[in-house]
Amino acid sequence: MRILFVCLGNICRSPTAEGVMRRLVVEEGLDGHVAPDSAGVGAWHVGKPPDERATGAARRRGTVLEGRARQVQPADFAAFDLLLAMDRSNLEDLLALAPDEASRAKVRLLREFDPVSAGAPDLDVPDPYYGGADGFDTVLDQVEAACAGLLAEVRARM
Ligand code: 4NP
Repeated sequence: MRILFVCLGNICRSPTAEGVMRRLVVEEGLDGHVAPDSAGVGAWHVGKPPDERATGAARRRGTVLEGRARQVQPADFAAFDLLLAMDRSNLEDLLALAPDEASRAKVRLLREFDPVSAGAPDLDVPDPYYGGADGFDTVLDQVEAACAGLLAEVRARM
């Protein structure tokens, strides 16, 4: 199962989701079965490592953020089984970029997989870039809950 987490810049939210998912996958003995990656719909930060505020907040919870920012490519829709958007704006951008109906069917909001928040009217992971430090902890809270739910669904399908 290849999963691409997608946000705007690929330096805050989606690298956080990728790192959290990678940790959960290892903890649950599913490495080799679930392959997480991340990308951004924008190109401003391409080549940069994750934001230090995101890296620090994640490290305090035992999650390592890695990689360099890249932009989503049309080929990603064939290369991944699921493309998970952090907010509705990212979702709309992904749907506009998707080359066909099969590709559009792979695009979801990450927090749809959080069993506690599923069905709520607002499933966005808020962009923490221009806010304070607590925004990065909110991202971690939401991403950890959603990734745990996602992994439970993946396991149930195996
Ligand atoms: P991300 O956060 O989408 O979670 O990586 C952002 C990073 C950079 C910008 C916006 C959001 N920016 O406008 O540069």
